[in-house]
Amino acid sequence: MPARRIFFLLLAATFFIPLLSMLYTRLMATMTNPATTIPATTAARHAIVIGSGLAGLSASSTLLSHHHPVTLLERLPKPGGNSIKASSGINGAPTRFQPAPTDDSFYNDTIRSAGPALSSMRAQRERLITTLTQQSKDAVYWLTDDKNIDLSLVAQLGGHSRARTHRGAGQTPPGAAIVTTLLKELNADPNFSLLTNSTVTSVLRASDGSVTGVAYTSAEGEEKQLLGPVIFATGGFAGDSAGMLKQYRPDLAGFPSTNEAWPGSAPLLTAAGAQLVDMESVQVHPTGFVDPKEPGKVVKFLSAEVLRGEGGLMLRAGKRFVDELQTRQFVTDRIMEAAPEVVEGVKVWDVQLVLDEGAYGAAKSHMDFYLWKGLMRKTTVCELGGEEVREAVQGFANAAKGKREDEFGRRAFGHWELDDVTPESVVYVGRVTPVVHFTMGGVVIDEKARVLDREGEPIKGVWAAGEVSGGIHGANRLGGSSLLECVVFGRIAGEQAAESLRKV
Ligand SMILES: Cc1cc2nc3c(=O)[nH]c(=O)nc-3n(C[C@H](O)[C@H](O)[C@H](O)COP(=O)(O)OP(=O)(O)OC[C@H]3O[C@@H](n4cnc5c(N)ncnc54)[C@H](O)[C@@H]3O)c2cc1C
Ligand SMILES: *[C@@H]1O[C@H](CO)[C@@H](O)[C@H](O)[C@H]1NC(C)=O
Ligand SMILES: *[C@@H]1O[C@H](CO)[C@@H](O)[C@H](O)[C@H]1NC(C)=O
Ligand SMILES: *[C@@H]1O[C@H](CO)[C@@H](O)[C@H](O)[C@H]1NC(C)=O
Repeated sequence: MPARRIFFLLLAATFFIPLLSMLYTRLMATMTNPATTIPATTAARHAIVIGSGLAGLSASSTLLSHHHPVTLLERLPKPGGNSIKASSGINGAPTRFQPAPTDDSFYNDTIRSAGPALSSMRAQRERLITTLTQQSKDAVYWLTDDKNIDLSLVAQLGGHSRARTHRGAGQTPPGAAIVTTLLKELNADPNFSLLTNSTVTSVLRASDGSVTGVAYTSAEGEEKQLLGPVIFATGGFAGDSAGMLKQYRPDLAGFPSTNEAWPGSAPLLTAAGAQLVDMESVQVHPTGFVDPKEPGKVVKFLSAEVLRGEGGLMLRAGKRFVDELQTRQFVTDRIMEAAPEVVEGVKVWDVQLVLDEGAYGAAKSHMDFYLWKGLMRKTTVCELGGEEVREAVQGFANAAKGKREDEFGRRAFGHWELDDVTPESVVYVGRVTPVVHFTMGGVVIDEKARVLDREGEPIKGVWAAGEVSGGIHGANRLGGSSLLECVVFGRIAGEQAAESLRKV
């Protein structure tokens, strides 16, 4: 079908090719920066940032705004980390993009979500949450007003009492839009050097315990050192299935993940005296796509929450089994009541996510991508199963049309339209499974992004921001608060490191 093919090529062209080529151009631009150790005379006057996700980019941008040279070390060939994949958006409240009335409940929502974790280190956690939520408005405005990134659309995600998750109105998902814009700005600054394929292997310390720099393996495979204040923005360990995930959550061994498969870097900081918190708090997302071409692949595409929000229902063995709009934890627990299938050592559950034409239309920009990737397909009810499936979908349609209460208590049905379900009714279907998605735990920081030791004292010369840090989300992270913590604490870490450079 040539018309269709042209459409998908266009989709690819408008969506991915510019993104990739932009990243590629930027990467090329950075490759002209020689990977050399900074000479000793200037060593104390530049800052070292580890990790090129949103936390590292925010910290770097802040340091450069104070005219301090920055060396950003990234172990992968390309910058962006998991941040570049973020698709829902970034929280901020109150902002001018939100509908009235003024949103004053972000702090309370975050406290509620953190839940039982607040029983330890309560005062410390409250200070972090205060910083996160009070600076959320400035974080969003920093991106929109200073960096010119469109974040004008606001959605309400699970666990939030208000719509406060910001994304752009165009095709580019928020993570990619933010990361590529910041990278472009950084690469234009002569004081910025990004060293890709460069893995930090240890933290250097003076005899008084303060951090003085890092050792790393360069792109050429040489062991090198850099001296200067250090900002850790190395991300979490949701992709470290054989390492940290297995250590802290052995029950999640063999789970697929939405994160790239790489080892966590928090141990580099514990070796320098840092304290860890909430390491067992791992967020499992109920819906990662099982690609029918590679069901045993560990890294899975996230099936965005919006698919369920706009009217998607879930079936197991031809029957509904849960209110699809319950919390991530609740939906995940229901799915896992059944036994998984183990494909090439990877645990995958057998759940079908089903949308009708109405829900498809409302989630079109996501859906066309999933259809193009072969993660979802367009079909009819009869192809999904016999009378049992038709009845299950009809039952859902009846609840959506207000003809009766939903048997699982679901109240919102997005843009579901299908009323009279026949075997020929058109539906869109994909297989989904729980996936490890985010790690709440990490190194303990204070509200100045300083890394605390086991006595609760700041370790001199080192800061941490983003998913590598712990204590902000407690037992559960609210959707959209991770990009937020990257910006808020990344900027604070940048300010703090800049101040330390001024004092030298
Ligand atoms: C598919 C997906 C969708 C998401 N959607 C959202 C969303 O909509 N909203 C939201 O708030 N959150 C979302 N999240 C979560 C959020 O994207 C991440 O938590 C956040 O981006 C983490 O940012 P970071 O800067 O801390 O780390 P990352 O972006 O992961 O970057 C860390 C970088 O550090 C590098 N690194 C690590 N160790 C070393 C080392 N030793 N030496 C050198 N480099 C190192 C890594 O290679 C990586 O590039 C999503 C996550 C995923 C996977
Ligand atoms: C670059 O860094 C130097 C200090 O090493 C500083 O004097 C200069 O102003 C910086 N340049 C810019 C463009 O910020
Ligand atoms: C980084 O490594 C990749 C693959 O390992 C390689 O293709 C790329 O050229 C390297 N880049 C740099 C800057 O060394
Ligand atoms: C937040 O919670 C506190 C304590 O329970 C309460 O007093 C306050 O009114 C709440 N604020 C909002 C905006 O809901």
